[in-house]
Amino acid sequence: MPSFRVAAAHHAYPVVVERGIVAAAAKYLPDKAGRVFVVSTEDVWRHKGEALAKALDGRAHEVLFLPGTEEQKRLAPLEALAEEMVERGGDRSSVVVAFGGGIVNDMAGFLAAIFMRGIPVVQVPTTLLAQVDASIGGKTAVNLRSGKNLIGSFHPPAAVLIDPAVLDTLPDREFRSGLWEIVKAGIIRETALFDYLGQHCADVLARRPEAVDHIIAESVRMKVEVVSADEREGDLRRILNFGHTFGHALETETAYQRLVHGEAVAFGMRAATWLGEKAGYCPSPEAARIHELIRLYGPLPPLDGISANRLLALLVHDKKTLQGKVHFVLPVKVGEVAVVSEVDPALVRQAIVFALS
Ligand code: GLY
Repeated sequence: MPSFRVAAAHHAYPVVVERGIVAAAAKYLPDKAGRVFVVSTEDVWRHKGEALAKALDGRAHEVLFLPGTEEQKRLAPLEALAEEMVERGGDRSSVVVAFGGGIVNDMAGFLAAIFMRGIPVVQVPTTLLAQVDASIGGKTAVNLRSGKNLIGSFHPPAAVLIDPAVLDTLPDREFRSGLWEIVKAGIIRETALFDYLGQHCADVLARRPEAVDHIIAESVRMKVEVVSADEREGDLRRILNFGHTFGHALETETAYQRLVHGEAVAFGMRAATWLGEKAGYCPSPEAARIHELIRLYGPLPPLDGISANRLLALLVHDKKTLQGKVHFVLPVKVGEVAVVSEVDPALVRQAIVFALS
């Protein structure tokens, strides 16, 4: 299976997609690494930890646990973990192995970024969402009361190890949550992936290994290319936010309780596609193709009782809003999007109403 390489301006790291790669984790620890701190959740470690524990057999390592919920994705648990690391012999030669879903990837990455002013992290994602998105590209963060991921840093990993076999026991809703990020990859940049998702929907949803491995590898390749070109989100990387501006507002409005992240992104992609068409960026037949793929990977949960006006107000607080201007990533056609800031607010509100309907 494929191995990719993020090649950013000042560093490079491997992103390996391979069944069973967890068993080779020790090989990817930086040379001369001291004590290894695996950061996981109790749940993930209980169900999936055995292969990693075996891989680290013979290395000085400790396992530390995070709470793993969006409400507790805060600075306080990281401070507690940092204290624990010092108590257990952590120093500047230590390395963090992040073993879990997106929350663990983000939090353990941030812990590595700030522990003793920065130690390496190896990302070993255990959910589909984290495999195709959160683990690649070096974004690390925790939430503030006022919003998601509002403190953090760019801390590129030493390596990313993506093992599709660990997804075998992933609950269906979590698997589908990751699929929405893969659908996003097809819409924004990968026409062949877009077509494959349309033609092989049944294989994908039945989790046939050839189909799952193919769509993971294609999404990972896309993300590796994008973050290699623009690690700090000055330009190209912004296309990855397709569906996310509205999606984040929806997650905040529902207090992370009603929707998984991918579902919120799917609603966001519906809104952005409607907006792209009505604002004149995307021809109707292309918008129809995008809506059809989103429909194919549904159904999405009902969104009754959510106020379009409140969502509109929340958009303004998104961290992608710059100097009061909301930036939308809108489709131009399948495989191409544009970042747009001048959009009529009345049209944005209508797009929200459409997505909620
Ligand atoms: N999840 C979007 C990014 O990594 O930029």
